[in-house]
Amino acid sequence: MTEHAGAAELLNVDGLSIANGDVTLVDDVSFRIAPGERVGLIGASGSGKSLTASAIMGLLPDGMSPSGSVTLRGRELLGASERDLSRLRGKDLGMVFQEPMTALNPAMRIGRQVAETLTIHGTSRRRAADRARELLDRVGLPERTAGAYPHELSGGQRQRVLLTIALANDPSLLICDEPTTALDVTVQAQVLDLIAEGVRDRGSALLFITHDLAVIASVCERVLVCRDGRIVEEGPVADVLSAPAHDYTRRLLEAAL
Ligand SMILES: Nc1ncnc2c1ncn2[C@@H]1O[C@H](COP(=O)(O)OP(=O)(O)O)[C@@H](O)[C@H]1O
Ligand SMILES: [Mg+2]
Repeated sequence: MTEHAGAAELLNVDGLSIANGDVTLVDDVSFRIAPGERVGLIGASGSGKSLTASAIMGLLPDGMSPSGSVTLRGRELLGASERDLSRLRGKDLGMVFQEPMTALNPAMRIGRQVAETLTIHGTSRRRAADRARELLDRVGLPERTAGAYPHELSGGQRQRVLLTIALANDPSLLICDEPTTALDVTVQAQVLDLIAEGVRDRGSALLFITHDLAVIASVCERVLVCRDGRIVEEGPVADVLSAPAHDYTRRLLEAAL
């Protein structure tokens, strides 16, 4: 008998493996995210977190081949056409990366970059400029930001802009890959709050990638622990932090103290 996926499910990663030539970098990773659920993916540098996120978004580096299955609301993403994937990205799927400068167009004013995300996915041009200013205001950026270029902003301001773009179309899932790692400590907390608030206000689910346990504890409900391309432990954040089942998780915890 075929098992039907739960109706409540949003993202289903099932047996995802990623190979580069004959080297397996991500090995049989499976997890699910329910609508509105906030899930952390933690692990040391090089454990396969970013590749997992890239596979979900259809942005794997050239030459890497994924196998297994990744569905969003029941739709298979692995092997989907670039046309379908780009329609999904920025609409159903928002993303924020570690380095905001590379994700922004250096030659385009901020307001226009936010407005374009809206018009590409159906907002009228007339409405988009106003809406872009509203959204920038919502993450605490001053009005003049709309007329600025990326290089005129601080790292924290640029990350707020990326978050604005990622959330502009109320995505069902926001993926953040080390979004605060490159920021000053004081700014990190502000951006984290904005991410948590942004997904909560929209009912968006969150996949939050970090190597920082404290960050997971403050933002996520559930945590997946990744090691050498595999998920070695998962559970509610409070359970995993108070009683880690796996040696590797214990060591991560000790390192964070
Ligand atoms: N473009 C690439 N070409 C070859 N190997 C890569 C590439 N990107 C990542 N890798 C390798 O894949 C593994 C997982 O990388 P990654 O997902 O970026 O780790 P993490 O995000 O957890 O730090 C690492 O061993 C890394 O060296
Ligand atoms: Mg990474």
